[in-house]
Amino acid sequence: MPQTPAPTALVVANWKMHGSKALLTEMAQNLAAARLDSAADNGPPATQIVLCPPTPYLAPLAASLIQAGAPGIQLGAQDLSEHPEGPHTGQISAKMLADSGCQWAIIGHSERRTQCGETSEQTATKVARALEHGLTPILCIGETLAQRKAGTTEQILSQQLAPLQTALNAAQLRKLVIAYEPIWAIGTGATASPTQAQQVHAFIRHHLDTPPRALLYGGSVKPANAPALFAEPDIDGGLIGGAALVAADFIAICRATLRP
Ligand code: PGA
Repeated sequence: MPQTPAPTALVVANWKMHGSKALLTEMAQNLAAARLDSAADNGPPATQIVLCPPTPYLAPLAASLIQAGAPGIQLGAQDLSEHPEGPHTGQISAKMLADSGCQWAIIGHSERRTQCGETSEQTATKVARALEHGLTPILCIGETLAQRKAGTTEQILSQQLAPLQTALNAAQLRKLVIAYEPIWAIGTGATASPTQAQQVHAFIRHHLDTPPRALLYGGSVKPANAPALFAEPDIDGGLIGGAALVAADFIAICRATLRP
């Protein structure tokens, strides 16, 4: 049966600190062969795919995608500096990322919040920096298992979102992508059930004064659980970690956004 595109879904690969030149070549070739980025009838792509490799691989991945024939696949960074420029050794500005061909940026991933002490105020500043330079921010929020068990999930998410309301105006909020990533589901194999994820997504969509551009679910998304998650009305796509390092799995997850 032909697959009919629903409104453009979004699938983002977060390679974290994994990968190699060999992997990016293999991924570009497999994605090009899968033709997921090209729509029939020259319409918009059914699924927008974004790859976020480690920074040194952004330029070679861009070249590989063009060489393989998948120019519709876009690139994103895994983080950016809250500063515009200056003496910040090791940091990378939104302006540089945009200048090097990035169109997206993951911001506030839970690994950065826990490993680098990043606060919600800093993530809001980073979101504003990304928008200033035309990058679409993918802001990650999520609760720990203890917070979920204590029944404070919505309170925690509200706290993580609060600084955005002061840092951004309505037009900026509309450009934001939010990824709900329950920390207990990241890299653990324990996924939020479609019902659990849908409940939280509906809460997020109605919580902000202006609804975001898209809401992604992230946390142990695999080919087997992706179809049920993506069938939920408030789940517009996924932020994929481990499964985005295996071309066949990542392609199967992207296909799960296409409605039969
Ligand atoms: P995972 O990672 O798919 O490996 O759980 C998701 C993420 O951390 O973005």
